[in-house]
Amino acid sequence: MFGSKTYIARRQQLKAKIADGIILLLGNVDSPMNYTDNTFYFRQDSSFLYFFGLDFQNLAGVIDVESGEDIIFGNDVSMEDIIWMGPQIVLKEKAEKVGVQRTEPYKNLQLVIEKAIQSGRKIHFLPPYRAENKLLLNELTGISVSKFKAYSSLPLINAIISLRSVKEDQEIVEIRKACAVGYEMHVTAMKMAKAGVWEQTIAGTIEGIANAGGGMVSFPVILSQNGETLHNHDHSKTLQNGRLLLVDAGAEVRSHYASDYTRTFPVSGKFTQKQREIYEIVLAANNRARELTKPGTTYLSVHMAAMEAIASGLKALGLMKGDVNDAVKNGAPALFMPHGLGHMLGLDVHDMEDLGQIYVGYDDEIRPVDQFGTAYLRMGRKLQPGFVITDEPGIYFIPALIEKWKAEKINTDFICFDRLEEYLDFGGIRLEDDILVTETGCEILGDRIPIVLNEIEDVMR
Ligand code: GLY
Ligand code: MN
Repeated sequence: MFGSKTYIARRQQLKAKIADGIILLLGNVDSPMNYTDNTFYFRQDSSFLYFFGLDFQNLAGVIDVESGEDIIFGNDVSMEDIIWMGPQIVLKEKAEKVGVQRTEPYKNLQLVIEKAIQSGRKIHFLPPYRAENKLLLNELTGISVSKFKAYSSLPLINAIISLRSVKEDQEIVEIRKACAVGYEMHVTAMKMAKAGVWEQTIAGTIEGIANAGGGMVSFPVILSQNGETLHNHDHSKTLQNGRLLLVDAGAEVRSHYASDYTRTFPVSGKFTQKQREIYEIVLAANNRARELTKPGTTYLSVHMAAMEAIASGLKALGLMKGDVNDAVKNGAPALFMPHGLGHMLGLDVHDMEDLGQIYVGYDDEIRPVDQFGTAYLRMGRKLQPGFVITDEPGIYFIPALIEKWKAEKINTDFICFDRLEEYLDFGGIRLEDDILVTETGCEILGDRIPIVLNEIEDVMR
């Protein structure tokens, strides 16, 4: 948690961006794993954390834009709770830590919302993503669950995105801590990888590193020799020489700021010539994207430059053909990279995705591109100093997709389908770094996890 001044200032900035009404920010509650008292790890809502800082269950915050008052709703624990959970800080004291003077019992939230509705005041709320908060919001407002998206407040969404997108220095410090844990996770995976090791042994070990770092993984670990499946959570295979292992994993630290990295390396510890050739193209695309990342540039244009790097590398290798610019224009490299270059990173690994990607990654100037591959780009808009984004190009050989394009004769002017026969069991390579946009360009956050081929082979040795 940061000092109270941080949260007071953030709520002040938020109030200045909203014309009238009240802002309702729901914290999260415990979610049962299999029965009420056996819960998943508690994860507070990120916008609640950003404005109210308190990492506890069963809280809600109200910001009255007109009166300027901030209220935290919650209950103090009972003797029974103390017996099971130990002594707890009382609500008043928690609220003071984040600069809030007024606290109310949780049941009073209903009264405050009812009163606001009766007075015809606007209630600004965010689209809820958890079932518990959907039910609660339905009870509080009477709006049916299917209508939340339509009735959530666009002014509030836009105001929060504008604040949370530009990271404060103290937030960067926290992200760097998450990067340090992520570094440890990936180097450990490289050192553990060898033929005969179960994928799950490595996945579990690196998840433990995130946990030992004070938080948890920032998303379920993606670790597989079948790296061509973009989000592969199946860790059931045993490592085999000749295969590549793709690891996409990151940590969130106690403050909940996240890291998100991907590395791909050979199980044998030594890249084959064929693996080396594809790897070098992905690395060139990653480096090219970073070189172009600076304030004022759109990330959509950086994504397109990465696609161009992939197309020209694959053309040099004889897997693509024709004019590279035309190939990119026609979406041909999306056969090999059917995803976007990156996304925002912060309190969430895909920062603020719950608020709506169209608002986080796009604006009036830069609209989403409706083309296979680029349509998945989560971040297209103009970059500003203080943005933290990922740079994660990849090349994948997805047999089903190759089959489909070949059968439907898609982009036959640019794809050498015959050559792809040799790559159907290749897997996939993705290389992901976390990047801070600075005043003049950008920098990689944290020590760069070994990425050059020789460095990786050295670590694995
Ligand atoms: N690291 C997973 C993702 O970015 O989707
Ligand atoms: Mn990512």
